[in-house]
Amino acid sequence: MSQRVPNILLEQLSDFINKEMGLFFSKERKLDLLRGVSLAAEEFGFSDTEMCINWLLSSPLKKRQIEVLARYLTIGETYFFREARIIQALEREILPAIVEKRRNTSRMIRIWSAGCCSGEEPYSIAILLSRIIPDIESWKIVVLGTDINVDFLDKAQRGIYREWSFRNTPFWLREKYFIKTDDGAYEILPQIKRLVSFSYLNLVQQESPEYLNLQGFDIILCRNVLMYFSQPQVLSVINRFYQSLNDKGWLIVGSSEASHVLFPQFRTVNFPGAIVFQKDLSMEVSRAENVLFDMEIDDLIPATTTNYDFSALLNADNSIEEEAEDEDEFTKAVNFYEQGKYKLAAELFKTLLNDPVFADNPQVYILLAKSYANTGDLKHALHWCNKGVKKYRLEFQLYQLQAEIYQEMGKLDKALDALKNVIYLEPDSFAAYFIMGNLSKQLGKTKEAKKCFENAEKLLRLKERDDVLKEFDGITAGRMIHVIESMKSMESPG
Ligand SMILES: C[S@@+](CC[C@H](N)C(=O)[O-])C[C@H]1O[C@@H](n2cnc3c(N)ncnc32)[C@H](O)[C@@H]1O
Repeated sequence: MSQRVPNILLEQLSDFINKEMGLFFSKERKLDLLRGVSLAAEEFGFSDTEMCINWLLSSPLKKRQIEVLARYLTIGETYFFREARIIQALEREILPAIVEKRRNTSRMIRIWSAGCCSGEEPYSIAILLSRIIPDIESWKIVVLGTDINVDFLDKAQRGIYREWSFRNTPFWLREKYFIKTDDGAYEILPQIKRLVSFSYLNLVQQESPEYLNLQGFDIILCRNVLMYFSQPQVLSVINRFYQSLNDKGWLIVGSSEASHVLFPQFRTVNFPGAIVFQKDLSMEVSRAENVLFDMEIDDLIPATTTNYDFSALLNADNSIEEEAEDEDEFTKAVNFYEQGKYKLAAELFKTLLNDPVFADNPQVYILLAKSYANTGDLKHALHWCNKGVKKYRLEFQLYQLQAEIYQEMGKLDKALDALKNVIYLEPDSFAAYFIMGNLSKQLGKTKEAKKCFENAEKLLRLKERDDVLKEFDGITAGRMIHVIESMKSMESPG
């Protein structure tokens, strides 16, 4: 099998796979893509990988082609009771509250594990439910697991697992909920198995098959799946989840994916060591009641500081906050930051990088770098920001911050490069265009500046005039358009 494929063709394939399957292959992962597609080519009956790629690119992928590609391109890393803090939040807070609410009404609970892999995640949820609901036989429980990889789904359907699926799990789990098979494997108990069903679903496909009812869920888990998608795909999948949830329903993603900026339509709720998202229809009402802020143009021109909405992380759900006995370390560090105690915040964020629960959260890198930046230590700010960028190449906020730091350092060209990455990941970022416009202007690149301002204006015109822009400290879209118009006229000759 030929492994030599022109770079440009591989790039086309990468874009195509991203569009059709959501999977994003960064430059660093191009070899994984090549390896996967070479194996798929064999299964499709091609002796030449390049020929197979050309065949794949010739028309939109059919279900069968996606199934074969998924077999070689998806990552099947999973295990029971993954991420103890999320499991705790589910077992102690989220599930008991739903059970309590439904006990005297419909006695129905619907949960969706999207990207369920070989079933460890939905079965874990079914086990939790059976522990919480003693009379579960008289309830209507739906735990749906969906995935794009049919081999994973076959395994899930069989419900038979080996030791590796139980890494990091308590001993009683195997003892109580599985039967040991003759060849030393573990088969899930039938009473748990009957609570769970599995189905094929490509999350980035717009239409869902009719036989799948993807509405009215109380919880959607989509953990360690979004991290393989590009930013636009992530946003569109999250919107779809929002539509599929009941009011007050929960969306749970992996801890490294829980960057709250990506979930503006949800309420962010902080459980000890776990960030989850709750649909709350009343937020739609308050969004509609935007407050108008006013601002002077002069204040705005150097407006390159991104306003991250940390309050959402802190004030997520009062009842839960009140019950939480000890404040978790992340909240403590954010509090230091909010109070302007940047040195203390930096020290605490640094220690969080050694905590497995937080080490995978890009917000820790962002806040650590910002803490240093706020003490004036730009060298360390850049150091931590770059480390974050290296780890989370899809996290646009890190590039945004990188741009800010470079700008502070006077390295405007580098700041422009960082902003290009922001736009690549967030093509709708009017803020990035606006700041790029300012920088280009400072560098004497008037043509580029004009183009950037035009793009920013175009994007802003897609909004309601009264929409409040959190990126610009609450100024409205209408006011911002006015600012840009003034800036454009200021720079036109004569
Ligand atoms: C790393 S596993 C995560 C499994 C489980 N959610 C967990 O956290 O343990 C990622 C899963 O996402 C699935 N996946 C990837 N792209 C998908 C897509 N476009 N639609 C549905 N599932 C997808 C993969 O097949 C794989 O099973």
